[in-house]
Amino acid sequence: MEKTILITGGAGFIGSHVIRRFVKNHPNYRIVNLDKLTYAGNLENLKDVEKAENYIFEKGDICDSSFITAMFKKYNFDGVIHLAAESHVDRSISDPMSFITTNIVGTVVLLNAARECWRQNNEGKLFYHVSTDEVYGSLGATGKFVETTSYDPHSPYSASKASSDHLVRAYHDTYGMPVVISNCSNNYGANQFPEKLIPLAINNIKQGHPVPVYGKGENVRDWLFVEDHALAIELIFHKGVVGQTYNIGGENEWKNIDLIYLLCSIMDKKLNRPAKSSEKLITFVKDRAGHDLRYAIDSSKITRELGWSPSVDFEQGLEKTVDWYLANEEWMNAIVSGVYQEYYKTQYQHR
Ligand code: NAD
Ligand code: DAU
Repeated sequence: MEKTILITGGAGFIGSHVIRRFVKNHPNYRIVNLDKLTYAGNLENLKDVEKAENYIFEKGDICDSSFITAMFKKYNFDGVIHLAAESHVDRSISDPMSFITTNIVGTVVLLNAARECWRQNNEGKLFYHVSTDEVYGSLGATGKFVETTSYDPHSPYSASKASSDHLVRAYHDTYGMPVVISNCSNNYGANQFPEKLIPLAINNIKQGHPVPVYGKGENVRDWLFVEDHALAIELIFHKGVVGQTYNIGGENEWKNIDLIYLLCSIMDKKLNRPAKSSEKLITFVKDRAGHDLRYAIDSSKITRELGWSPSVDFEQGLEKTVDWYLANEEWMNAIVSGVYQEYYKTQYQHR
């Protein structure tokens, strides 16, 4: 094997698409997926690659420094792509501490282990930290986030990701750690946990349950198909410049309510329901605390320097996503039949 790469959080939504891409495109790399398998981690997401010769799964916690040190000793990683995180804003509002622990402490545990492992020679090594556009805060009606936009996070989730970004940069500046960071906008696609807006709405529409829209549905997000994100990560891992940050976005801004209308019309079509019947399920509920109004990413740097741009048209991507959830009923049912019910009750009863 030419390289051994540690990918953290590979059993989650984006991580599973990244693992699949690396395992399939790079048979000369040994890919180690390290994941704690929290509620969001699901090895079913990786069924098609689990037997690949260049793929290994290790169950463990990025906050457990002796375990992480042992992993670096065992595999002598050449590169790290760090995706493991607590990722849902609403959960960070009800339980901030687990975000501080995993997103901040966990990232530093990984940085320390990489630093120790690469102490003698860090030539050709790379610590790639996958982050979010939410670190930049909230936009008004105009403007976009660029790589030099000042950080202004508002939720415990985005503050924890901002903190981890700062620590990754600090390890670069202080210890010469070879790092790269990317900040991406909202992803959608197959295998996303149904706490997030799109899979939650698809499942509720299918079941005939209310579709909760926070506030007036006027918040704007910039949506990117998850496979386009995975491609950007592959490019940055290979061609990104050490010490640099790359913004990744979909050039695809949607008000939440408009997105839900579009989703309703796709669902009506796919489920052979009369036009506009799913719209009746839309229910405006209490707004999210500290809800950022608008995110929009300027991804001209990665386009100019690495030749990446989003490739999937949103309506086609959304239709493909709906098709996936409808064809993978068992995947969804296995999730929503368990502790998800408790989460859903607690999360939405007050809204
Ligand atoms: P996810 O919640 O679907 O998956 C997170 C994964 O990390 C899960 O498999 C979980 O088991 C694992 N994990 C959590 N805590 C862990 C720990 N302590 N040790 C080891 N593994 C642990 O998240 P996602 O949506 O796939 O996001 C992945 C990364 O991308 C995150 O860092 C997130 O901040 C970032 N990101 C997400 C989006 C998005 O739209 N989803 C956009 C930009 C950036
Ligand atoms: O921007 C990147 C971020 O996108 C990632 O860093 C996060 O990990 C990811 O969860 C996502 O954050 P959001 O908070 O934007 O995603 P979410 O799907 O939770 O919500 C999208 C929008 O929809 C947001 O404005 C809140 C709203 N919403 C969400 C839910 C779950 C609703 O109106 N109703 C809902 O039930």
